[in-house]
Amino acid sequence: MQFQNDLLLRAAKGEKVERTPVWLMRQAGRILPEYRAVRESVSGFIELAQTPELAAEVTIQPVDLLGVDAAIIFSDILVIPEAMGLPYEMVEKRGPWFPNTVSSAADLKNLRVADGANDLSYVIKAIEITKKELNGRVPLIGFAGAPWTIFAYMVEGSGSKTFSKARAMLYREPKLSHQLLQMITDSTINYLKAQIKAGADLVQIFDSWAGILGPEQYDEFSLQYIAQICDAIQEVPKTVFAKGAFFAREAMGKLNCDTIGLDWNMGIAESRKMIGADKTLQGNLDPAALYGNPEQVRKTTQNMMEQFKGSRHIANLGHGVYPDIDPEMVKVFIQSVKDFQ
Ligand code: CP3
Repeated sequence: MQFQNDLLLRAAKGEKVERTPVWLMRQAGRILPEYRAVRESVSGFIELAQTPELAAEVTIQPVDLLGVDAAIIFSDILVIPEAMGLPYEMVEKRGPWFPNTVSSAADLKNLRVADGANDLSYVIKAIEITKKELNGRVPLIGFAGAPWTIFAYMVEGSGSKTFSKARAMLYREPKLSHQLLQMITDSTINYLKAQIKAGADLVQIFDSWAGILGPEQYDEFSLQYIAQICDAIQEVPKTVFAKGAFFAREAMGKLNCDTIGLDWNMGIAESRKMIGADKTLQGNLDPAALYGNPEQVRKTTQNMMEQFKGSRHIANLGHGVYPDIDPEMVKVFIQSVKDFQ
């Protein structure tokens, strides 16, 4: 595939780039009125994600409207539990909700290891359509949740401040926990391989709830499963974003991946020292910085770029863009990265 713009892939691999590439986590979604219009034409998020033509359309919107250097396929991390036999609903203004959860060995028996290409054929189709329509303009990012974050939703049944049910399971039923984590890991490897086969040019693993585990538990219940995924995927560059896992940065530097995502609580110079020189770092502007005025957004972005200067970097926020951010401020952020020398 000939790309018109492959800055993202070259930056991920540590090759020379003319300027730092930029994209935003959660760029396809509610910040754009054009997204909301498409979403209103269907019954909700899930129907949109399961209609490949529409999913492809909203995947490409940020490339056309914002000028980002990558597209990320429009889907959700929670399609994996569904493919394993645990369906979810997206409740308006409240987020994901699972009618059934996992709390016992009997529950585990009702689940299966997902086969990416068949169980998630609608995502695979959306990737194929998106690749065709992008026609090499920018690379397409595929993604999945990290096993621990997916486990947290499957056990808890919804979002939570503490995920206390999920964390209780790690103490009360460590063996069962490992069995479930292994099933999620195997499903995720199948799924990412199917995404790559369909055309994903880079994959990102989101460990959004990394930060609620302590360091020993993180090693045991999260990092070793992420390592399995990284080892199994050799076809394309890999990014690992573990939000709040400041204590695991040194260990993440040893993962078989190309890029490590930083959240905005992680110091840039300190992260570089802990992770080492041979990984690309992605991030890490505070998403709330985009509530500032254009001058402030330019300043905070330049300040971030200054701190990453001279080492491998992909510009992004430190977490997903908040839904009520003005798209004009997102454009200021993107332009400030592009203008940075
Ligand atoms: O633009 C993109 O990044 C691609 C699409 C994408 C979505 N979800 C679409 C979505 C991606 C990469 C995700 C990942 C995701 N989903 C994560 C990991 C990243 C992170 O934010 O930490 C997590 C934890 C989820 C689970 C999830 N999905 C929650 C908690 C919610 C509700 C809260 C919220 O942010 O809306 C969702 C819903 C969701 N996923 C929406 C979108 C566009 C909003 C649905 C709508 O249109 O109403």
